[in-house]
Amino acid sequence: MPVTTLDDLKTIKEQALPKRAERLAHASAAQDSEIRPPTPKEKRVILARCGVIDPEDVYDYIAEDGYTALLKALTTMTPRQVIDEVLKSGLRGRGGAGFPAAKKWEFAAAQQSDVKYMICNADEGDPGAFMNRSVLENDPHAVLEGMIIAGYAFGAHQGYIYCRAEYPIAVKRIQLAIKQARELGLLGKNILGSTFSFDIEVRIGAGAFVCGEETALMASIEGKRGEPRPRPPFPAVAGLWGKPTIINNVETLANVGNIIRNGAEWFTQFGNEKNKGTKTFTLAGDVVRTGLIEVPLGITLGEVVYEVAGGIKDGKKFKAIQTGGPMGGCIPEHLLETPMDYENLGAIGSIMGSGGLVVMDEGTCMVDIARFFMDFTQDESCGKCVPCRIGTRRILEILTRICEGEGEEGDIERLESLSKYIVAGSLCGLGQGAPNPVLTTIKHFRHEYEAHIKDKKCPAKVCRKLITYRITDDCPGCMVCARNCPSKAISGEKQKVHWINPELCESCGICMSVCKFNTIVVD
Ligand SMILES: Cc1cc2nc3c(=O)[nH]c(=O)nc-3n(C[C@H](O)[C@H](O)[C@H](O)COP(=O)(O)O)c2cc1C
Ligand code: SF4
Ligand code: SF4
Ligand code: SF4
Repeated sequence: MPVTTLDDLKTIKEQALPKRAERLAHASAAQDSEIRPPTPKEKRVILARCGVIDPEDVYDYIAEDGYTALLKALTTMTPRQVIDEVLKSGLRGRGGAGFPAAKKWEFAAAQQSDVKYMICNADEGDPGAFMNRSVLENDPHAVLEGMIIAGYAFGAHQGYIYCRAEYPIAVKRIQLAIKQARELGLLGKNILGSTFSFDIEVRIGAGAFVCGEETALMASIEGKRGEPRPRPPFPAVAGLWGKPTIINNVETLANVGNIIRNGAEWFTQFGNEKNKGTKTFTLAGDVVRTGLIEVPLGITLGEVVYEVAGGIKDGKKFKAIQTGGPMGGCIPEHLLETPMDYENLGAIGSIMGSGGLVVMDEGTCMVDIARFFMDFTQDESCGKCVPCRIGTRRILEILTRICEGEGEEGDIERLESLSKYIVAGSLCGLGQGAPNPVLTTIKHFRHEYEAHIKDKKCPAKVCRKLITYRITDDCPGCMVCARNCPSKAISGEKQKVHWINPELCESCGICMSVCKFNTIVVD
C-alpha cells in the first residue's frame, strides 16, 4: 500500500504496534549484544531505536513515527524551511570535521544544476569503530529518511550510500530498507504523492581508509582510484561527476528525521553552546565497560572514562585517552576535565573524529602507541603527496628504532620537525592528522621518549627489546615456565629455583603469564 497521508502512516503504526509488543515480549533482554543498557550519563537519541525495532521491517520503523518527518517536510515545509530548521538546530557533521550540516546544504541549494547528488558516507574506516555500522544495521530507515529529507532540502534526486564491503549485514539491511521504502512510495518517483522524486543506491567500497575522505570517496564511486583531490572546488559546487554533491556521515543523516519531527529546539536541549545534540562513540581499551555509547556533546572526558565506562579495569591507574581515531591525540590525566566537543578537543591537540575512543592504563607505552597509530596511517596513505607518503614512513622508522632501544639524541626533534612538514604539505586530513598521536605523546609523555632514548628503558615495560625477565629466589621450581618457553631459555630442576638465559630470551612474556606463583618479574 503506497503511503501518501499521515493517516496512512497512522494506520500502519496501529497495525505494527501490537506485533512489535509481542515480539519484544518474547525477545531476549539484549537483542543486540553490542548495545547494552545506557548508564545515567548517556542519552540515547541516535541509538534509541537500535535493538528495539526490527530493522528488517519498515512497519516497525513507522510504528516509532518513522517517515513522519519526511511527510512533514514534503507536505508542510519548503526546502528553504527544512534548511533553516536544521541550521537552527545547530547540527554539525558527525564524520569528523563538525561542519554545520545545513550550511553545506545551503551551498548546494544555491547551485544551478539539473543534477545534484546526495551521498551518505558509511565508510567508517577507524580501526575498532562501529558506531555507523550499528546504526545502519539496527535502524536503516532512519538513515534513508535523513537522506531523502536532505535531498529535498537542496534539490538532489539521486542518493548513494557508500558502505565498506566488510559490513555485509549493514549492506543487506540497507538494501532491504531501500526496497521496502520504494514499495511504500517513500522512495522513488513522486514520494508520498508529492512532486519530489528521489532514489538511493548502495555503492560498496573495498575498505581503504582514505576512501572515507569525501573526494576520494567520490572518485571511488565514479570507478576511479580512490585518491583525494584538492578542494576547492568543494563537492557542494562540483562533486560527483562534476555535479553539486553533498556528503554527510551516517550519524549526521540519522539525526535529520528527529530534528524535523521534533523541531530544532528539541535537538538543542542536548549538548553545549556550539555543539548541539548527542554523539555516538566506540569505547575501547582498558576500561570496565567497552562498546558503543551515546552521550550529549560537551560531557567531559573524565565523565566518559569513570561514569560511563566504569573506570580503569583491574584496579590499575589511568594513563591516557585517545580521541579521534588514528589521527587523534593522546590526552593525559590532567586534561580529563576537557569537554568532548569540537573546539575543546581541537584546543588540546586532538580531534573529535567520527567517534573512536581508546582508554589506556598505566601499562601502556606511549611511544609504542604512537608507533602503532603511525603504522596504521602510513599503511593507509594513498601515496599521492610526498610528505605524507615518505614522511609517515620516516616517522615510523624513527619510532620503531626508539622502541627497539636504538633511539638517538635528536630523535624527538626530528619527529617534531618531520611532523610539521607532513601537516603543512599534505593534501588531505589523513596526512594532516597523521602526526597527532606523535605530537601529543611527545607533548604529554616526553619523559617516556627520553627514557627509551637516553636510558634504554621502557617505563611501562612494554617494548620487548628494552625489558628483561627474571625469576626470583621464591620460585618453587614447578617447571611450567620452562615447558612453555618457546625459546628454550629457561633452565632448572624440579623443586629448585629456575633461571632465564638472557642470550636466548626473546622477551615474549609467556613464562610470566603461565607462572602461578608470581615469581617472574620484568626489569
Ligand atoms: C582519511 C579520512 C577518512 C575519513 N573517513 C570518514 C568516514 O569513514 N566516514 C565519514 O563520515 N567521514 C570520513 N571522513 C570525513 C569526510 O571527508 C567528510 O568530511 C564527511 O563524510 C562529511 O560528513 P559530515 O559533514 O556529515 O561530517 C574522512 C576524512 C579523512 C581525511
Ligand atoms: S595526505 Fe596522504 S592520504 Fe591524503 S592525499 Fe596525500 S598522500 Fe594521500
Ligand atoms: S620471556 Fe619468553 S622467551 Fe623469555 S624466558 Fe620467558 S617465555 Fe622464554
Ligand atoms: S613457572 Fe614460576 S614457579 Fe614454576 S618454575 Fe617457573 S618461575 Fe618457578
